[in-house]
Amino acid sequence: MAKVLMVCLGNICRSPLAEGILRMKSIKFKIDIQIDSAGTSNYHIGQHPDRRTISNALSHGVDVSQLKARQFIVSDFDDFDHIYVMDHSNYSDVIALARTEVDKKKVTLILNCIYPNSNMSVPDPYFGGEQGFEKVFILLDNACEAIAEALKRTS
Ligand code: 4NP
Repeated sequence: MAKVLMVCLGNICRSPLAEGILRMKSIKFKIDIQIDSAGTSNYHIGQHPDRRTISNALSHGVDVSQLKARQFIVSDFDDFDHIYVMDHSNYSDVIALARTEVDKKKVTLILNCIYPNSNMSVPDPYFGGEQGFEKVFILLDNACEAIAEALKRTS
């Protein structure tokens, strides 16, 4: 079974949404995936996702209301095969904790799954308005569709 970890800064907006969307895709594609998410920061440990994330996700049929934020830890490199980060700052923070080249190879900017080699970031919606959350949903929905499709092909 593939093991996938989604990572952002706070683990209350982008990565819990990516976790929920990929879980929905795993049902659609009929694949077993172990999915989790984490934040590089300790800002929101133990908290449920941001209320704007919860309501935007629900409007698309995805329930992330029960998830709880946790911080990324070094042993996540052992526990997951694929670590998808949302932006460049998440990428540097996670890579800084990598112990080996094998660890580093697990880390990918999630939008490279749909825009190869573009190194684009999923914009942080936390300080913006509601429309930022919808934009993030569309980006992550497309990326998670591609991730699930690829895992289906190799399963
Ligand atoms: P996330 O968004 O990384 O997508 O969960 C953020 C959540 C909280 C903060 C920043 C980004 N914050 O600074 O508290």
